[in-house]
Amino acid sequence: MHPHLKEILFSREQIEEKVKELAKVVSNDYEGKYPLVVGILKGSAMFTTDLIKEMSIDLELDFMDVSSYGNATESSGEVRILMDLSTPAVGRDIILVEDIVDTGNTLKFLKGLLYERGAKSVTIISLLDKPDGRKVEIEADYYGFIVPDAFVVGYGIDYAEKYRSLPYIGIFNQEFL
Ligand code: PRP
Repeated sequence: MHPHLKEILFSREQIEEKVKELAKVVSNDYEGKYPLVVGILKGSAMFTTDLIKEMSIDLELDFMDVSSYGNATESSGEVRILMDLSTPAVGRDIILVEDIVDTGNTLKFLKGLLYERGAKSVTIISLLDKPDGRKVEIEADYYGFIVPDAFVVGYGIDYAEKYRSLPYIGIFNQEFL
């Protein structure tokens, strides 16, 4: 375990299993629909690429980079688009892929934006759900794991840009702030 972590919540193997399970469910639901899968950078980069490798249907891949946190541990509530889609959203069945739903600000903003742009449907898949963090009303359609109200890092998720490359998910030890 990385010395800056307090504990591991989900091992590499547990994540792999969960990703396969989610990919199977989503593939069944989207059979014949050719969805546009949108990974929300940077946190969901690892989850998105692992997920689509396990999906059994044809799909199109795109990414958006949005930011709400800056380098703080608290969400600012403000969502900025740092990099937009390269594919038009109009008429598409979109699957937004997130690493974590915390306050919900990011997803509420993105879902609204994509419907405004004429998406046919927008569903959300998030590996992690932190229900205690929620400040706005939004839920993903598919979740992997529930996490406690702690600072979670690894498997794409950072603290101040660190720890994204860890293959497992754990709780950051705030003594190392
Ligand atoms: C994190 C995470 C989600 C969002 C969730 O992204 O990846 O996108 O925050 O938080 P919310 O539900 O409170 O909006 P962040 O803005 O830190 O950018 P990053 O993915 O590049 O680390």
